[in-house]
Amino acid sequence: MRLPRSVRDADVDGKAVLVRADLNVPLEGGRVADDARIRASLPTLRLLLERGAREVRVCSHLGRPKTDEDRAKYAMDPVRARVAELVGDDRVTVLENTRFNAGETKNDEGFARELADGCDVYVIDAFGSAHRAHSSTEAVAHILPAYAGLLLLAELEHLGRLLGDVERPFVIVSGGAKVEDKVAVLTNLGSRADRVLIGGKMAEDVRAENPFPFEALLPVDVVAADAFAADAQTQVAPEPPDGWLGLDIGPKSREQFAAALEGARTIFWNGPMGVFEWPAFAEGTFAVARAVAACDGFTVVGGGDSVRAVYEAGVADRISWISTGGGASLEFLEGKELPGVAAIPAA
Ligand code: 3PG
Repeated sequence: MRLPRSVRDADVDGKAVLVRADLNVPLEGGRVADDARIRASLPTLRLLLERGAREVRVCSHLGRPKTDEDRAKYAMDPVRARVAELVGDDRVTVLENTRFNAGETKNDEGFARELADGCDVYVIDAFGSAHRAHSSTEAVAHILPAYAGLLLLAELEHLGRLLGDVERPFVIVSGGAKVEDKVAVLTNLGSRADRVLIGGKMAEDVRAENPFPFEALLPVDVVAADAFAADAQTQVAPEPPDGWLGLDIGPKSREQFAAALEGARTIFWNGPMGVFEWPAFAEGTFAVARAVAACDGFTVVGGGDSVRAVYEAGVADRISWISTGGGASLEFLEGKELPGVAAIPAA
């Protein structure tokens, strides 16, 4: 794998550094609801400060603003406040949401020049956005001397292990609603795995028509809810009865999945087993989280929902690598080159 050159090799003493981080975090009531991505960006910011950077300008997108009203909703103020609390150094400033400029998503060179103006060095640490060829992730890397940040490098190293010679058995667990989103990554990675377990709504699609060049292990029972009942009525069944929705994997499937994960030496998990946001349908996803955490081999969890599930199940500290990337980690594991990485000179 081609590795981009590291920020550790950049001379930043006395320099102004533009950092593209992925500070696209969930907000609630005008505050940052989950600061994991902000905390994951701190090692690079601290390294730059320790190495004597005169100024560190951090830029990121936040959400997908489209209209003028979205400007208030997606302003960077809550993120800026959290960064200030965590960094406590006034050499660090957070620029306004890059997507407020229409040029950003067009990879416009003019906007990249605006971002670069007054800066000497560019560092991309936004692994979660590196699959986007945008002004702040791609075009600007051709204007300033460009380096990869510590988080981006750690993501490449850990996720890259899954693409190399893994320790076996190698087991993949996948879930979520849409099988289309996972076809490419599961075809690439799943073909190299010893077992692939599929839960969530996508299991129903795979049962109807398997799009993969391998047989996946599918749930044998589901926790279903009556789609038309006002109060939540649930039952466990091999298939959801007519008019009912399967919203979690059932108890037999949890045991079957836990058994298939036992003894694994490498695990990749992406996507929940059901609608775990609702407590009545959380147990299947939490059971998978616990089974992944029980593995003492190399375990990787990627994608926003499964990451939240490992935290809610209280097992995050027993996972080897929790990726900050959603779409970016899937594209990387599909075997694609990420534009934000390709734009950085090789190490
Ligand atoms: C993410 O949350 O996956 C990244 O920040 C990318 O966001 P985007 O899908 O809006 O480009």
